[in-house]
Amino acid sequence: MLFEPFEFSGMRLKNHVVSVPVVSNLATEDGFVTDNLIDRYTRIAGGGIGWIIIEDVVVISRKSPYNLRIWDDQFTPGLKRLTEAVHKVPGAKIGIQLGHFLKISMKGYRQKVEDLAKEDINQIIEDHLQAAIRVEKAGFDSIEWDAESCMTLSQFLSLLNKRTDEYGGSLENRLRIVMEIYEVTRKALGKGFVLGVRINGDDLVMGGEYTPPFYGDLNEACCRWNRLSINLLRRPMGRCTTSKTRRTSFGLYRLFRAPVLAQGLGPRWCKRLPC
Ligand SMILES: Cc1cc2nc3c(=O)[nH]c(=O)nc-3n(C[C@H](O)[C@H](O)[C@H](O)COP(=O)(O)O)c2cc1C
Repeated sequence: MLFEPFEFSGMRLKNHVVSVPVVSNLATEDGFVTDNLIDRYTRIAGGGIGWIIIEDVVVISRKSPYNLRIWDDQFTPGLKRLTEAVHKVPGAKIGIQLGHFLKISMKGYRQKVEDLAKEDINQIIEDHLQAAIRVEKAGFDSIEWDAESCMTLSQFLSLLNKRTDEYGGSLENRLRIVMEIYEVTRKALGKGFVLGVRINGDDLVMGGEYTPPFYGDLNEACCRWNRLSINLLRRPMGRCTTSKTRRTSFGLYRLFRAPVLAQGLGPRWCKRLPC
């Protein structure tokens, strides 16, 4: 089963094995692709992985040394070189993870979603859109928005988002920015492009996701995403796997008609998956 081909939303995978994003720090200090980075991903592809989702690629110019970047057209040729190298491996697919983070200072200041003005939110949406246009030009097979850990989109989704406008509070409001990014991206890239979102299995903070109300909310969020053509939902558990996160991930398989990628499920759980 694991090594059998699989097709969804027009993307044919040669097997069910996916390499998940892990920041490599192999980009240049300014965020350009290097030969070492290409070597890393072509080796992974050469090992037989069906679908590689590369490390977080930053959609803004904010300082973040050695992380891959896509906030300007100057990054597209390097990323194209990377996809072309991976595509030389027969059947290999390569997706990108797009990331946006808020300001963090060495002195301890951490910007919160509550600090953002409406223009800042519009800019975040625009940054994701422009990045997506470059992604297509660079030849990637899919996009995944990084809405986990403490990334900006994750902070909007979280119950800890205490904004009082249309971007905070109710589930509908907390989902709004992801929905808006989805809508502009889908319009720009068309129906055939695989789009996905990676969300937390557990925020691991008091009052964050996984408190009982969010459990219900999350199910509702997935139902809504189901009705759009978000083609993939990914719920990391990984290092933080607990029986609770395993159970919710398992539940999502039943709920979400598009493919769900889960980490941390051992053979006992995998056998029960309806795939
Ligand atoms: C060094 C490092 C970098 C990572 N970078 C990313 C990343 O860019 N994007 C992301 O979604 N997850 C990232 N992760 C999380 C991994 O994708 C994965 O969820 C985690 O390593 C657990 O994997 P496991 O389930 O195989 O144990 C990173 C993890 C590590 C250790």
